[in-house]
Amino acid sequence: MAEISFAILLLSLATIILNVNADAGRPAVFILGDSTADVGTNNFLPGSQARADFPFNGVDFAFSIPTGRFSNGLNSADFLAKLLGYEKSPPPYLSTVNYSRYSLTRQALKGINFASGGSGIFRLTGQLPSDSPNGGKQNVIPMAGQIAQFEIVRSSLVAAMGPLPTLRFLSKSLFFISIGSNDIFEYYRSNNNLSKERFFANLGFAYENQLKALLELGARKFGIISVPSIGCCPSQRLNSPNGGCLEELNDHARAFHTKIKSILCRLNEEYQGMKYSLGNAYEMTINVIDNPLPYNFTNVKIACCGVGRLNAESNCNPNANLCPSRNNYLFWDLFHPTESAAQLAAVTLFSGPTRFVAPINFSQLAQA
Ligand SMILES: *[C@@H]1O[C@H](CO)[C@@H](O)[C@H](O)[C@H]1NC(C)=O
Ligand SMILES: *[C@@H]1O[C@H](CO)[C@@H](O)[C@H](O)[C@H]1NC(C)=O
Ligand SMILES: *[C@@H]1O[C@H](CO)[C@@H](O)[C@H](O)[C@H]1NC(C)=O
Ligand SMILES: *[C@@H]1O[C@H](CO)[C@@H](O)[C@H](O)[C@H]1NC(C)=O
Repeated sequence: MAEISFAILLLSLATIILNVNADAGRPAVFILGDSTADVGTNNFLPGSQARADFPFNGVDFAFSIPTGRFSNGLNSADFLAKLLGYEKSPPPYLSTVNYSRYSLTRQALKGINFASGGSGIFRLTGQLPSDSPNGGKQNVIPMAGQIAQFEIVRSSLVAAMGPLPTLRFLSKSLFFISIGSNDIFEYYRSNNNLSKERFFANLGFAYENQLKALLELGARKFGIISVPSIGCCPSQRLNSPNGGCLEELNDHARAFHTKIKSILCRLNEEYQGMKYSLGNAYEMTINVIDNPLPYNFTNVKIACCGVGRLNAESNCNPNANLCPSRNNYLFWDLFHPTESAAQLAAVTLFSGPTRFVAPINFSQLAQA
């Protein structure tokens, strides 16, 4: 009997401590997505080729230590966490797998990052065929896998503080999602005869189901980032004799934004208490590309780190060229933004006007 009441006392103490922590004022941040938000997930996937845990990635960190971020420094997920008042960006879920339940719960009350470079909305996006070298090993974690990991975290919260407090906590937490580019790249490269309409219908259907899964698990506040002007990244400009943007890919990026917009509208009517903010990454990037100087960018075509024409013929690696003035480049490597560009994107999402983020911006979402 005494033992049971002692256990109950411990349990309620734990609940009190956890609740105090959860009420520090800042919402927790759960991040899902691809390399635009990956803070080191893929470092834990030995079979993965979508990794950035080698130089010159991370060159602008103290001691130039690469972290797995596809950047010379921080990425947008980091800057969003900072803008919300966190000193540290949420760690990759895979770095927490040996945490005690208590430590995992404490971390979950601040947030966790599930984003995996190279991944997509479709389960097969970014996966190596099983008959290729390294194929069959886990290469990237698709959106559905990221949601499954979130379910594990959620179970730990339910075990620590009970189902209702968990739901209350999750309804106030922010879910930032940045995904879709890799699905579109693969569709574009595959030359398959799926019509554009059919492809976006399938992609939208898959995305909607994943957002529903998160809603069913208790998520209510979504900060969604659409696909940037991927036709203008150095890897695609490389295909054009004069280094121009690939308009077909940019059309796809715009189509994807329209699709997400209608999905969010629909879900908002279906799920009580849902709030969302949709960042128009296409509009944000094309605005900087068309008008770079006010943002201190002098180069929006060439990758800072890479090899060959436009530094876009290989990824960033220890033997690549490295530009001296990273602040003046929009692109870090053939696909990804520099730290400066990622910061500009985060600030725009956080406090920008409706041209770039609507119907509300991320700071309004945090307070909603
Ligand atoms: C977790 O523990 C296992 C077994 O000790 C170890 O191999 C693995 O590297 C650890 N993972 C992390 C992320 O610390
Ligand atoms: C593409 O179209 C051809 C005929 O038009 C058809 O035979 C083939 O199965 C299609 N391929 C795919 C991947 O749908
Ligand atoms: C603009 O770029 C220059 C050169 O890299 C840098 O010294 C300066 O601090 C930048 N200014 C701003 C406002 O970011
Ligand atoms: C976006 O957020 C800021 C606060 O960070 C707010 O003052 C501003 O009005 C918002 N912009 C729009 C267009 O809603």
